[in-house]
Amino acid sequence: MPTHDAWVEYRNWGREYGELVYIHDRNILIINNSRVAIDLLEKRSRIYSDRQMTPMMKICGAELILSLVRYSERWRRDRKLFQQNFRQAAIKRFHPAQYNKIHEFLRELITTPDNFMRHTMAVSQRIIFSALYGLDVSPEDPLAVKAVRTLHTMGGTLIIGAFPVIERFPWMRFLPSWFPGCGFKRIADHCIKEIQELDNALFDLAIDNLNTGSSGTSLIAELAAKSEGRLAEIEAIKTMGTISFLAAADTTMSSISSFMLAMTLHPDAQTKGQEEIDRIVGKDRLPTLEDRPSLPYIEAIYREVMRLHPPGPLGIAHRLIEDDFYHGYYIPKGCVVVPNIWAMNRDGDVYLRPDEFLPERFLETPSGPFTSINDIHAFGFGRRVCVGRHMADESVWLAIASVLATLTLGKAKDEEGNEIEISEEYTDSFFRYPKPYRCSIAPRTLNAEKLILATALNAYQI
Ligand code: HEM
Repeated sequence: MPTHDAWVEYRNWGREYGELVYIHDRNILIINNSRVAIDLLEKRSRIYSDRQMTPMMKICGAELILSLVRYSERWRRDRKLFQQNFRQAAIKRFHPAQYNKIHEFLRELITTPDNFMRHTMAVSQRIIFSALYGLDVSPEDPLAVKAVRTLHTMGGTLIIGAFPVIERFPWMRFLPSWFPGCGFKRIADHCIKEIQELDNALFDLAIDNLNTGSSGTSLIAELAAKSEGRLAEIEAIKTMGTISFLAAADTTMSSISSFMLAMTLHPDAQTKGQEEIDRIVGKDRLPTLEDRPSLPYIEAIYREVMRLHPPGPLGIAHRLIEDDFYHGYYIPKGCVVVPNIWAMNRDGDVYLRPDEFLPERFLETPSGPFTSINDIHAFGFGRRVCVGRHMADESVWLAIASVLATLTLGKAKDEEGNEIEISEEYTDSFFRYPKPYRCSIAPRTLNAEKLILATALNAYQI
């Protein structure tokens, strides 16, 4: 494994310097241990729930983005709107979008299997566009392209030290963009413009669709109707939509991609999963979310994917708002706390053979696989824990169960019929996901193929 990945390096520092790795000149604390993360980020979440907001992030519009905004009244207000709509009891309304888009994913996988990575990205984006806006948007659609570009521009502004001029001289934000050294302003103006355009374009389309009756009611259109035109509420609804896309697309794509790669590399686990579905669900229908409690091995595969491959290996850093003491260490106010989720999930004191893909580990715990998903930390910590986690959890689980019910994944073969080896390489970016590789994907049986094709005729409705 290459050691340039920050999470590997941070884990190695932890082994050398102990469970709290504090970088003094940058006031950054790295946590590699889940017990410490829970002690600080969960049990003391009153003081560990702020975010770092650099001057560059501020002028790029990060204050509009819930995942980046400081721990403030604005955060409370925006998070409340999210929570009302993404809490466990509310997410049933997303089921039609989840089923329909995941079934479309299966159809795409059997039609053009070589494009499986593109299909994985497409399903992750389509679920959100459909669930929130009632829109059917493909990854080539200019709106999706713009959304991805916004995500990447915004991502670039999060890299501390990437814009040294504004970070050292924040007052320079008041100078015009043509002024020498003020190139950062052009990037910032572009970024904020893209976010606002995206907010408006998606919102307007959802309202148009509602007015013309070209799709059913969407969450965004419904909330807009309830707001009766109150401007502040409309603005909050618009940003909730855009942020959902920014937070959901790459993360969901990462998890489904990691699952696909894991199944290609671990045919035994794949077969066990398929056998469980055949036994419990049968072969005459596709699995549903109601089947979930009866499918412990599928649950275990899901947990193991999320454990080994959390989409955000370093989560999103929290920031401390007061001086604190922990086990004799002084942690100063303003400290940026980086949870190394990747390292926590591969801790040899918690997991046996931590780097291996072994779904069975979740079956063999005294409480079985149905312990809290929070134990895997992929969704973060405390008051800033992922607010879309219930939806994400169902999308990823349903994709896993649907693929295992109908398809077999394996290594691709070359012209001589030899298996092509897969190097199992992952990106080292903010969101970690498998780098392109080749594999073979085919319907498990003729009947499975028929089940997949039939989904085109039977759209799921509540
Ligand atoms: C597999 C999919 C996903 C993963 C692994 C994931 C993971 C995360 C993580 C690690 C955080 C940071 C938590 C912390 O600060 O400790 C986060 C925050 C967030 N996530 Fe997700 N997420 C996923 C999907 C989603 C979806 C589907 C949505 C919305 C539709 C969403 C919306 C958010 C928002 C708004 C925040 C910011 C919360 C705040 O700062 O208060 N995420 N997510």
